[in-house]
Amino acid sequence: MALLYRTFLPLFLHIFLLSGSVWTKVELSMHESVEVYLGDSAQIPCQYSFTNGYNMSSFVMIQWFVSFAGNNSRVRIFYADGNQQIADNNTEYTGRITVTSDQKGAQLTIQDIQISDKREFFCQVNGLAAGNAEGKTHLRVFARPEAPVIEGVLDGISVTNKHPSKVASCEARNGFPKPNITWYKNGVPLISKPGHVKMLILVTREYSGFYSVQSTLEYKVVKEDKDALFSCEVSFFVPGAVRTVESDSINITVHYPTTMVKMWKESPQGLVKEGDTVKLRCQGDGNPIFNRTQEPDKDLKGNGDSLILPPVSRKDSGIYQCRPLDIDGDTKVKGEMQLTVHYLDPAVVEPKDSELVVRGEHLIATCNALSSLKTHVVWYKDGKQVGQNNTLPLNDATYETTGEYTCEVSVPSFPALHTSGSVHIIVHGGPQLLGVDQVLQAESAGRVVNLSCEAVGYPVPSISWNIVGSQSWDEVVSKANEHMAHSVVSVKVTSDINALCNVSNNMGAEVKIFSIKAIPSITSAAPFSPAEGSGVIIVVIILCLLLLATLGSILYFLHKKGKILCGRSGKQEITKEKTTKDDIVVEMKTNTKNEEAILLKAVNGDKKGPNDQ
Ligand SMILES: *[C@@H]1O[C@H](CO)[C@@H](O)[C@H](O)[C@H]1NC(C)=O
Ligand SMILES: *[C@@H]1O[C@H](CO)[C@@H](O)[C@H](O)[C@H]1NC(C)=O
Ligand SMILES: *[C@@H]1O[C@H](CO)[C@@H](O)[C@H](O)[C@H]1NC(C)=O
Ligand SMILES: *[C@@H]1O[C@H](CO)[C@@H](O)[C@H](O)[C@H]1NC(C)=O
Ligand SMILES: *[C@@H]1O[C@H](CO)[C@@H](O)[C@H](O)[C@H]1NC(C)=O
Ligand SMILES: *[C@@H]1O[C@H](CO)[C@@H](O)[C@H](O)[C@H]1NC(C)=O
Ligand SMILES: *[C@@H]1O[C@H](CO)[C@@H](O)[C@H](O)[C@H]1NC(C)=O
Ligand SMILES: *[C@@H]1O[C@H](CO)[C@@H](O)[C@H](O)[C@H]1NC(C)=O
Ligand SMILES: *[C@@H]1O[C@H](CO)[C@@H](O)[C@H](O)[C@H]1NC(C)=O
Repeated sequence: MALLYRTFLPLFLHIFLLSGSVWTKVELSMHESVEVYLGDSAQIPCQYSFTNGYNMSSFVMIQWFVSFAGNNSRVRIFYADGNQQIADNNTEYTGRITVTSDQKGAQLTIQDIQISDKREFFCQVNGLAAGNAEGKTHLRVFARPEAPVIEGVLDGISVTNKHPSKVASCEARNGFPKPNITWYKNGVPLISKPGHVKMLILVTREYSGFYSVQSTLEYKVVKEDKDALFSCEVSFFVPGAVRTVESDSINITVHYPTTMVKMWKESPQGLVKEGDTVKLRCQGDGNPIFNRTQEPDKDLKGNGDSLILPPVSRKDSGIYQCRPLDIDGDTKVKGEMQLTVHYLDPAVVEPKDSELVVRGEHLIATCNALSSLKTHVVWYKDGKQVGQNNTLPLNDATYETTGEYTCEVSVPSFPALHTSGSVHIIVHGGPQLLGVDQVLQAESAGRVVNLSCEAVGYPVPSISWNIVGSQSWDEVVSKANEHMAHSVVSVKVTSDINALCNVSNNMGAEVKIFSIKAIPSITSAAPFSPAEGSGVIIVVIILCLLLLATLGSILYFLHKKGKILCGRSGKQEITKEKTTKDDIVVEMKTNTKNEEAILLKAVNGDKKGPNDQ
């Protein structure tokens, strides 16, 4: 159909032009372009007039055409004359266009503008004798793109990269006509510069007719770019203007040669001992990637910027280093630290476990524990401190020396380290009697006395008794422990007794001798040993002497003859006087005389003369 019109029209116009009697002319004017948003409606006016007073109400025919971009062909979309106004059937504008006309001209209105409506619209006017004229308007269609989306690279970018590296990409989708993308760094536009800044643009024509533009920024980063903010901006045309929309800003991770690295021990705090888990950390001025070396050249597997050493031993002591992992790998920058793992080995006690020592011998016990720090040793025996040196001299061993010796080793500068060890010392030797080894005793006949014999020795001594002079005796106590034996025999004194306690072991024997003198006596006065009651005796003597003096005075006054001396005078004199006195009151003083004799004997036995009183 469209083809039909095109062939027909030129012929038709030619006929009219030849037959025109008056030379008139059509004048037509149209806008060069009309701009409109997608989806809106567009008005394309076509104004025309006739020169030489051509009657406007005469026959005028107006036709509207559109052109195809690819070929130069065109299609009519509307026809109007004095009688009819018809939108052509089966064109893409059928049903979407209307034409209004008045004295000045006509106006084509297109509804619901599509991207495909971006084309030229022709208005052709035929005024028969007045001739014809044609004009065109370029319809421009605009669609705003979506806001630009920026995406920075996630990996860090090294300043040592020789060529510009991809920093970010930016996409603006579904715009019309094609939008542009501009890059900014810190708000300043980036301009393409060989070797430094490069933008790769990819334009996609969507099926819908829209343009999507993607731009990739390649950039040679410098250290300062770690703080830079990158953004992109989309610019696009709208009716009568240019608009821009900016993206978010992003920052990037820049790896650059580290100029300073610090390395330190994060945990534990303070000194490190064997068995601790140690965490070392490494940090540089930027975003270095670390790589650790413990001499000699052994790489350790780190975790980020930390290095965790599982339970350490003294072998882990040493110098630890970390260095940034650079592309060229030969950086001189490194962090370094000394790790010292302290230790205290179990105490070694010499002699070991238990040791036999012969009585009187000298022994030196030692306690040593290998440590990386200065140690302090304390020896204990039965919970009591006995020494503060790693050596413990045990001179002239006695049975008291026997026992368990424990040494506690501590590290004053690192209390978490301590250990201990022990040795059991056993003193070996012949029996040794406890107490006196000879007992002389006077006992009233018929009494029962206990004879006690106690000795220490190792091996434990055995005690045997040999008792001469008594038929009846019993062992009433028999006790023994590791190195002591005790035996008590109960003996009835019938006559003088000689008892012998023989304590012996395989190292020797000792005897204790008991001599008991039996006193035939009917008094119940308790026998006493020379050592006991001397104080009481002295008091009794003084009282007796005072009594004698008083008695003497009384006698003096009674008989008025002689003179009794008292005080610092000889024993003989007192005895003499006493004898005199005894003679006088002999019947009443028998007991007294007897008692005094015993008392004096006892005092002499104690080597204290009456002059000492
Ligand atoms: C134009 O033509 C119409 C009738 O067709 C007529 O009535 C009118 O007077 C004419 N005007 C002029 C200026 O010739
Ligand atoms: C010109 O192009 C349009 C579509 O682009 C097509 O429909 C038409 O047939 C073409 N005309 C000629 C003469 O090739
Ligand atoms: C357009 O089509 C309608 C029917 O669909 C028809 O009546 C009319 O004559 C046609 N017009 C043209 C100009 O072919
Ligand atoms: C896009 O860039 C081209 C080429 O520099 C320029 O001609 C055009 O005007 C730009 N478009 C916009 C919307 O800025
Ligand atoms: C990058 O930006 C994020 C969010 O704005 C911020 O948390 C981060 O610290 C920045 N990084 C650098 C290296 O500036
Ligand atoms: C440490 O760096 C060297 C080269 O410098 C490399 O061969 C090695 O793989 C790195 N080790 C780790 C754990 O990154
Ligand atoms: C510890 O013993 C050593 C000899 O073994 C001696 O030189 C040192 O003085 C002793 N130290 C003390 C505190 O007794
Ligand atoms: C002798 O020893 C035994 C047992 O210890 C005791 O029962 C007894 O009374 C003692 N006899 C004398 C006279 O001390
Ligand atoms: C004491 O006993 C030991 C061992 O039985 C013996 O060898 C020794 O002769 C005895 N000593 C006396 C004085 O009896």
